[in-house]
Amino acid sequence: MKTILVTGATSGIGLEASVQLAKQGHRVVLVGRDEAKTKACVEQVKQRSGSQAVESALCDFASQASIRALADDVKRRFPRLDVLVNNAGTVFDAYGKTVDGIERTFAVNHLGYFLLTNLLLDLLKASAPARIVVVASTGHYRGDMDLSDLSYDTGGWSVMAAYGRSKLGNVLMTRSLAKKLAGSGVTVNALHPGVVASNIWSHAPVWAKPLLAPIKAFFMISPEEGGQTITYLATSPEVENVTGEYFEKNKAKTASRLARDEALAEALWAKSVELTKLQ
Ligand SMILES: NC(=O)c1ccc[n+]([C@@H]2O[C@H](COP(=O)([O-])OP(=O)(O)OC[C@H]3O[C@@H](n4cnc5c(N)ncnc54)[C@H](OP(=O)(O)O)[C@@H]3O)[C@@H](O)[C@H]2O)c1
Repeated sequence: MKTILVTGATSGIGLEASVQLAKQGHRVVLVGRDEAKTKACVEQVKQRSGSQAVESALCDFASQASIRALADDVKRRFPRLDVLVNNAGTVFDAYGKTVDGIERTFAVNHLGYFLLTNLLLDLLKASAPARIVVVASTGHYRGDMDLSDLSYDTGGWSVMAAYGRSKLGNVLMTRSLAKKLAGSGVTVNALHPGVVASNIWSHAPVWAKPLLAPIKAFFMISPEEGGQTITYLATSPEVENVTGEYFEKNKAKTASRLARDEALAEALWAKSVELTKLQ
């Protein structure tokens, strides 16, 4: 039985992957930001999987203090961590900054993964063989990375520009971390789950909502199907020795030109250390 932490486990692909991983017989820790919703999801996962080894933890990834509290909670409660699934992510329909003063899409989607992963790295290494799964997006192909203005203080913010940048950050982090973890027995891979009919689309602009309903119904895959892409990278023996890759439809695929820029990956890493005040 592996211990698997899934962030963003209260909706969409994170919730469905949690059901699938619990059905496989693993202890699954659902991370949510709302206590009542997270508890209800634990009950749902128990009921749908038939497993009692389902627990919860709380974190708001828009707050670095909350991420640090989650890491402390995990280290206190679990002697080992076999798989970390970084999945909590969102889009924002308006510009804004977090309590830490960072543009919130970048803060939640990229720095959230970055800080939690680094804080849990020693536990993952001590649990090796272990895996880190990074839920990125095909949106990373459209992302840019202006390291001198990660919060768009000089303008240029749009919903999709910020989302693309944050998801490019996910793939850059994956490639950089894979190199740092060489020989440790811990792998790290990124994925695009497909275009999934999840709650993420509820943040779309009002004018787009009538268009989205039929698109969701006819062209998007289900959260169950999207969740399978997480489950595959989390536990399939096929990928036990694969690291530093970007997956679509359970196949490694060449990531964007920027995502393969090693100097950019190292520079983003250094900037992320600075922004999260990691030692
Ligand atoms: N849907 C797609 O087509 C698609 C495509 C490519 C990539 N993705 C990626 O897939 C991941 C999961 O998205 P989804 O489609 O399953 O969307 P979703 O249904 O909206 O689920 C997102 C999850 O992240 C959590 N979350 C969001 N902001 C958070 C915060 N500040 N602190 C803590 N938790 C937070 C949500 O919590 P609440 O339940 O409290 O809202 C929820 O559990 C994201 O990283 C997304 O970028 C999705």
